[in-house]
Amino acid sequence: MRVLVIGSGAREHALLLALARDPGVSALMCAPGNAGIGKIAEQHPVDIASGEAVAALAKKLDADLVVVGPEVPLVLGVADAVRAAGIACFGPSADAARIEGSKAFAKDVMAAAGVKTAHSEIVDTPAKLDEALDRFGPNWVVKDDGLAAGKGVVVTTDRDAARDHAAELLENGHPVLLESFLDGPEVSLFCVVDGETVVPLLPAQDHKRVGDGDTGPNTGGMGAYTPLPWLPEQTVTQIVDDVVKPVAAELVARGSAFSGLLYAGLAIGKDGPAVVEFNCRFGDPETQAVLALLKSPLGALLNAAATGTLDQVAPLEWQDGSAVTVVVAAEHYPATPRTGDVITGADGDGVLHAGTKLVDDQVVSAGGRVLSVVGVGGDLNEARADAYSKISAIKLPGSHFRKDIGLAAVEGRIALP
Ligand code: GLY
Repeated sequence: MRVLVIGSGAREHALLLALARDPGVSALMCAPGNAGIGKIAEQHPVDIASGEAVAALAKKLDADLVVVGPEVPLVLGVADAVRAAGIACFGPSADAARIEGSKAFAKDVMAAAGVKTAHSEIVDTPAKLDEALDRFGPNWVVKDDGLAAGKGVVVTTDRDAARDHAAELLENGHPVLLESFLDGPEVSLFCVVDGETVVPLLPAQDHKRVGDGDTGPNTGGMGAYTPLPWLPEQTVTQIVDDVVKPVAAELVARGSAFSGLLYAGLAIGKDGPAVVEFNCRFGDPETQAVLALLKSPLGALLNAAATGTLDQVAPLEWQDGSAVTVVVAAEHYPATPRTGDVITGADGDGVLHAGTKLVDDQVVSAGGRVLSVVGVGGDLNEARADAYSKISAIKLPGSHFRKDIGLAAVEGRIALP
């Protein structure tokens, strides 16, 4: 099977590494890719937001399966265009991708499916902002009601900070979503979904704030670990049965059946799991850790979802132990990341590339999240040690990373309410 992966981040690098382990995959291609991906896949330039361009490239490359990594092309209908060209595609239709692209749609689907989530209100004019803020918080949860790669979210006990963020979004023409705060440890559960068939992967936890101890602004994610030693196995079953399956069934009932990766971001509160958000694609950086432990062939799994045979896939097999990924970010990320710095030592095993490119045969930084370093071990402590020892060999001027990815779990500091 010839597989074309669309995207250029560490998530796509992780997908390609897992696909490379599948004996059924005969050729790996990526568009547009990055400096690290070039070592394992043939790379091609493409406008990932253009369904026409992606479908034409997939035809030219004789791809049997296209895997779309990021949300933006999915929301814009790239998977529809690939399927219309007669090529199997892993990724939902534009219609189904609204579960991430429109928070109002997601809330409506969850309400109809009886799924617990935060109470929310959309504010679209500054005149209504203060009154609305008074109905929420503290804590205030202020989100951009559109795609913002995680960086559009501010969670704060400071009303002025909440107001400033909301006012800035409104000034830039973005409606604001205010939400009630969901308490409890967060879980990312990725499910391969086709219609009403749901296959969960291992649960993971992201670290969204930029600084150790969950301090500083939100980012796209600074690191993740899997599995979660503090999460009972029955909670994963509960999430699948009470959250993901009802949402998948509701999407089918609306004529917007989901086919691809449905990412449930949840808070495990005293009344059980509640949805913080749904995404329509693999999460970044959790994917880098989750796929490091996958033993089953990824190409066969994704192709089954893309061709309507997911219900025939054998139960997934996982390597024992734990995996951790730590993001190495550019100086001044997330505000104004500096790019163009030369990186050395980033070619070892488990060093996945995100914002990198080759300039005169040198690897240079080209984005905020530059690398995602994956450690694997018999337990979480060993996996952390592996990841941090790999990072010590990497040189990127001004870069920073969190030192505490997975640490609260190792120290038994995560408790379910
Ligand atoms: N890990 C956050 C995201 O992928 O949206």
